[in-house]
Amino acid sequence: MCGIVGYVGHRSAASVVVEGLRRLEYRGYDSAGIALVSVEAGEDGSGGLATEKRAGKLANLEKAIADTPLPEATTGIGHTRWATHGAPNDVNAHPHAGATRRVALVHNGIIENFDDLRARLETDDHVLLSETDTEVAAHLLELQVLSGIDLTTAMQRVCQRLEGAFTLVAVDAEDPSRVVAARRNSPLVVGLGEGENFLGSDVAAFIEHTREALELGQDQVVTITAEGVEVTDFDGTPSSGTAYHVDWDLSAAEKDGHDWFMRKEIFEQPRAVADSLLGRRSRTGRLQLDEMRLSDDELRDIDKIIIIAAGTSFYAGMVAKYAIEHWCRVPVEVELSSEFRYRDPILDYSTLVVAISQSGETADTLQAIRHARTQRSKVLAICNTNGSTIPRESDAVIYTHAGPEIGVASTKGFLTQLVACYLLALYVAQVKGTRYGDEIAEVMHQLEAMPDHVQTVLDGADAVYQLARAHTGTRSVLFLGRHAGYPVALEGALKLKEIAYLHAEGFAAGELKHGPIALVEPGLPVLCVVPPRGRDQLREKMLSGIQEVRARGAQTICLVEEGDDSIGPYADVVIRLPSVPVLLQPLVSVVPLQLFACELATALGHDVDQPRNLAKSVTVE
Ligand code: F6R
Repeated sequence: MCGIVGYVGHRSAASVVVEGLRRLEYRGYDSAGIALVSVEAGEDGSGGLATEKRAGKLANLEKAIADTPLPEATTGIGHTRWATHGAPNDVNAHPHAGATRRVALVHNGIIENFDDLRARLETDDHVLLSETDTEVAAHLLELQVLSGIDLTTAMQRVCQRLEGAFTLVAVDAEDPSRVVAARRNSPLVVGLGEGENFLGSDVAAFIEHTREALELGQDQVVTITAEGVEVTDFDGTPSSGTAYHVDWDLSAAEKDGHDWFMRKEIFEQPRAVADSLLGRRSRTGRLQLDEMRLSDDELRDIDKIIIIAAGTSFYAGMVAKYAIEHWCRVPVEVELSSEFRYRDPILDYSTLVVAISQSGETADTLQAIRHARTQRSKVLAICNTNGSTIPRESDAVIYTHAGPEIGVASTKGFLTQLVACYLLALYVAQVKGTRYGDEIAEVMHQLEAMPDHVQTVLDGADAVYQLARAHTGTRSVLFLGRHAGYPVALEGALKLKEIAYLHAEGFAAGELKHGPIALVEPGLPVLCVVPPRGRDQLREKMLSGIQEVRARGAQTICLVEEGDDSIGPYADVVIRLPSVPVLLQPLVSVVPLQLFACELATALGHDVDQPRNLAKSVTVE
């Protein structure tokens, strides 16, 4: 939610910042802006500060810069916005400047006490031009700098007055040597270069220039210059970040010949699943989770698991419930992070809270884990983003290895979360002794075959594309599933809503006759995830549901395992899935649904990677 870039070094700051914004545009695309500090004078005699900002996508900013070039500069900041306070227009776009335009600032997050701060500034005759909370911080920062202190000290002082979640990145027109940033509950990483340094909401912002990064802690201020990086707490106490090496490169952040990042990421899934399984078995064949910082004794004491997550990650959590309860015999609750802490959940030291988050920055999930820890529960994060806040604030972590997920609609993030959930379930079963070693080894064996199965589904993409293109006139689609297929139905519907803007709903097939069947009318497409053979009771119940909707004229599109011909009389369209156990079936059954949504949205002419009103990483509650 909002992308932020900062740069000091020897290159053209405008190019580095705009390129960084391009790679972060998936985080928000309501407006974009840049501020440069050069030794040359900026516009309006405002010292060395030059700014440009435009409503709409980054392309609008690029055009403005091409029409009226900015002065040469090697220090700059930039922002791509997902609007919170104030409409997405030119005035509300970042950067925002102080009253004398000495300081420019970009911001991600929400400053909760901004009304109060704004009122005080206005009493002191400050004129604020925008409706944003950010401009308040720019004025406060400038007031500090004008009192004669440097930008770093000014940032420390201002941050102590701010409440809420924020990443701030600022420049001072009279000091081109530094960019100063601060973070609280909002993402910020430092890129470490030679004779240059970078700031970004995530490493994609600077991956083209360096793979060495510095993770910052909570409530820290960082100053970058061409020669170095200095970190302090908000009270000025020297601190340090944690250095790490980014294990993916620029090619992972590019489309590689695909029309959309989303499509590229769907096709990366066999590799992402394989990478997430890599190194999980010891020489003796026992399951090992390297980043599992919970001891076996701690895990043995767990008598309840609560999974918290949002959106697609929540659906991964629903699948995890089926797997954990089946293999570990531990009760599992799955809860939306945004609901969790507000209902006064019953937690104690024997509750394990599992937080699933691709980005590791989702504010709802972050607040939920903080609440869980105040109740003495252990928190384990399942996360795809190294250096992000949620794993840092958790007791243990299982990293998924999907690589960067840039398409706003999550795909490989979901599949790798499923893998991590299965690994967690098997690991707990191993520790608690609820499953024998050879049973666990057998499931691991089945999991290790999944990359090939996913590839088989992808090889059949053309048939799904044709199906999608035949549905461009459709206004509504239903998805049905049972057992582990139910969250898949929900996920299929979410994908379609997000990128094709269609009315789509997922249902547990058994619930249909309790109300939703009233929606069925002739011609309505209903996608049905049929459980594999071997779970005949489930499958038969599902077949009854399919017959019920077909009898009312629905067009039934059935995802069925290969070799299962019992569906023949009830399916208008059959999409074949590889034959896998029911608990693992989501890994293959969700893939045609991702492809369907991607292709239908493309055929409808939508921007698949940047769907309207959405942002990749939701850092506000
Ligand atoms: C859907 C999607 C969102 C995210 C949700 C949680 O395609 O991307 O629903 O799944 O915002 O995000 P994370 O997993 O980053 O916490």
